[in-house]
Amino acid sequence: MTEAQTVTKADWGKMPDGKSVEIYTLKSAQVEARVTTYGAHLVSVRTADKNGKVADIVLGYDSLAGYLADKSYLGAIVGRYGNRIAKGKFTLEGQSYQIPPNNNGNALHGGPVGFDQHVWSAQQVPGGVELTLVSADGDQGFPGTLTATVRYTLHGDSLRIDYSAKTDKATVVNLTNHSYFNLHGDDAGDILDQRLTLFADRYTPVDAGLIPTGVLAPVAGTPLDFHSQHTIGERIHADNEQMKLAGGYDHNFVLNGKMGEMHVAASVVDPTSGRTLTVTTTEPGVQFYSGNFLDGTLTGRHGIVYSQHKGLCLETQHYPDSPNHSNFPSTELKPGAKWHSTTIFTFGTE
Ligand code: GLA
Repeated sequence: MTEAQTVTKADWGKMPDGKSVEIYTLKSAQVEARVTTYGAHLVSVRTADKNGKVADIVLGYDSLAGYLADKSYLGAIVGRYGNRIAKGKFTLEGQSYQIPPNNNGNALHGGPVGFDQHVWSAQQVPGGVELTLVSADGDQGFPGTLTATVRYTLHGDSLRIDYSAKTDKATVVNLTNHSYFNLHGDDAGDILDQRLTLFADRYTPVDAGLIPTGVLAPVAGTPLDFHSQHTIGERIHADNEQMKLAGGYDHNFVLNGKMGEMHVAASVVDPTSGRTLTVTTTEPGVQFYSGNFLDGTLTGRHGIVYSQHKGLCLETQHYPDSPNHSNFPSTELKPGAKWHSTTIFTFGTE
């Protein structure tokens, strides 16, 4: 490692069943990030703005109690299958599987008790922490014992997340991080004036349940075209069917970069604080979600109310409902194979 970086660990309370939860603090000259073993949540990311003022730029809670009550996946690792599976149903190797629906009749983020609600085992690694969860065969209806590993490491101005998984029976996997970023800092305004670029020519249009129709449609000429920088608020209320169905942005973008190789997915600039975020990934898609369902009923860190558009998610992933779309990159994992993906969040100022 090129710069002095520290990793420290502390107790972070107990689960209702008495199981201990820990929190790891990763520190470099530019970034302080905190990760808890409960749901492998990214709890906090503190960076300086262009004037040196430090703030938290992800939404989160002060304590474990907040995460235990959370319904919005703030900073969570979602799995075994992040995003939606239509009606919770899919077929694999001639067998049908049913995940209990938990979102308008569809399965969302791994079903009712996803990976965000488990205590992961953890070990310190150079520059970070590696978390492991073993999900039993049949957990939430998914086949196969899945061993998932998520490694968060800090490298100067970049937070890297490496995901891997293996199984003992054919299954489906789609792991991602569900952080809500707000480059103003969590105590100052919403994300509508922040400027987004997405490296995507196409997206996967959805139906009323936010399930992809299967079409890969061009973004050109729609409010989903972020080839050049646009503020998030500029076209969010546009007279466009897709925007109305989702109540804003909540769509999977088909990234132009090559799956399996690192490519830039997105960048965000906050003209006020000067903070920037760049998202680089090996994944073929990114779900851009503009915090449409945050409705002010959620109170986060320091008593801050999370109203609509308080944060934005850039969830690098395979496309939603891939198990039911043979034209989408496959999310199937077979025994003996290893599933891998890497996403890097780079923080800066301009
Ligand atoms: C994902 C989904 C959204 C919403 C959030 C959680 O990002 O795409 O529709 O369900 O999770 O609130």
